[in-house]
Amino acid sequence: MPSRDATGPSTRSVHAGRVRDRESGHVATPIHLSSTFFSRNTRELIEYLEGRRSANFYSRYSNPTVEAAEEKIAELEGGERALCFGSGMAAISTLLLSQLRHGDGIVATRELYGGTFEFIERMLPRWGISVTFVDPGDLRGLEAAVGPMTRLIYTETPTNPRLTVVDLRAVAEIARRKQVPCAVDNTFASPINQRPIGFGFDFVLHSATKYLGGHCDLIGGVVVGPRDRMKEVWQHRKLLGGILDPHAAYLLERGMKTLALRMERHNENGLAIARHLAEHPRVRRVFYPGLPGHPGHEIAKRQMSGFGGVVSFEVDAGKEETTRAVEALELMYLAPSLGGVETLVSQPTNTSHYFVSPEERAAQGISDSLVRIALGIEDPADLIRDLDRALETVPSEERARR
Ligand SMILES: Cc1ncc(COP(=O)(O)O)c(C=O)c1O
Repeated sequence: MPSRDATGPSTRSVHAGRVRDRESGHVATPIHLSSTFFSRNTRELIEYLEGRRSANFYSRYSNPTVEAAEEKIAELEGGERALCFGSGMAAISTLLLSQLRHGDGIVATRELYGGTFEFIERMLPRWGISVTFVDPGDLRGLEAAVGPMTRLIYTETPTNPRLTVVDLRAVAEIARRKQVPCAVDNTFASPINQRPIGFGFDFVLHSATKYLGGHCDLIGGVVVGPRDRMKEVWQHRKLLGGILDPHAAYLLERGMKTLALRMERHNENGLAIARHLAEHPRVRRVFYPGLPGHPGHEIAKRQMSGFGGVVSFEVDAGKEETTRAVEALELMYLAPSLGGVETLVSQPTNTSHYFVSPEERAAQGISDSLVRIALGIEDPADLIRDLDRALETVPSEERARR
């Protein structure tokens, strides 16, 4: 494999992390189902346990198929080490628990995936960790919130579901000034569109369920970070037990081979559908960082090479009419999640943010008529036809008056 800098994103997606096993000659990555691995003698076992020998030992600790996926992600993100988990939430919760202790504090930007928000808001305080949320655009507020006990700055960009863009370079600079590590959930962008480590981030997280896997057929997560800091994350993964299963690791590694190719189409579809919706008479507002009117457009242009396949918009109607329109879609699936080849649509108040309180939803600007489309790789004309037909069910102003 040529050096990482000498290759383009598609070549990296296909070849990064590959192992050339001359003996078996395999091209596809083998699935190693073994739960345990033998040592030749007790000395080898002890050397492994004391960290003096790298080997396979037990599949809750590490597994060759999982490692193949990890090496590919580490290389795609430009990080030193990646660790895979059984879900995005397992990756997020394990990272947070590995970095924070009783008495510590975390500063997080407010617009986060609903599960992450719930974990930080409800679970961390139970372990004596203080939580401060700040507005994602308020860099001064962020800096002011970082106190002597802050041990982690946590953010997500673009955010779920309003696609707010956080200035990665600025946040990483604050973290460096304050000497606090920073972590970002890069799920919505994927490492093809955005590589936060290059902007100074310590940790990058993904729900691998989404773009990395890419086919709605696995649940997984990943944390990428510097080798020394990842030791603590590995210890926590080992003890909390959240490592990815080898079958899912195989699917993930295989899925990532087409990541760059898929992202090209996701980006094209995102832009085409956002532009179409921006002109649509039944649409009040469109959220997509690729549109020049989006408040984060200039930052997105600086830190992203594509704007992704998620577009959110407010239907110019109430909750019921919005639900009816979403239910009228035929090609797009009414389903949570994103990042697969099939287009998925949801109303965040009925899915990802169902368990977030109405007050907090209002604070995050998540209204009842907000719809999130996670565009797949279908042809844009077909997607537009499906959307237009469904939006026909929304009464126009004149029809509503009649
Ligand atoms: C941005 C983001 N992060 C994390 C998660 C959680 O991932 P998982 O469902 O794989 O646990 C999600 C799930 O929707 C997400 O959208």
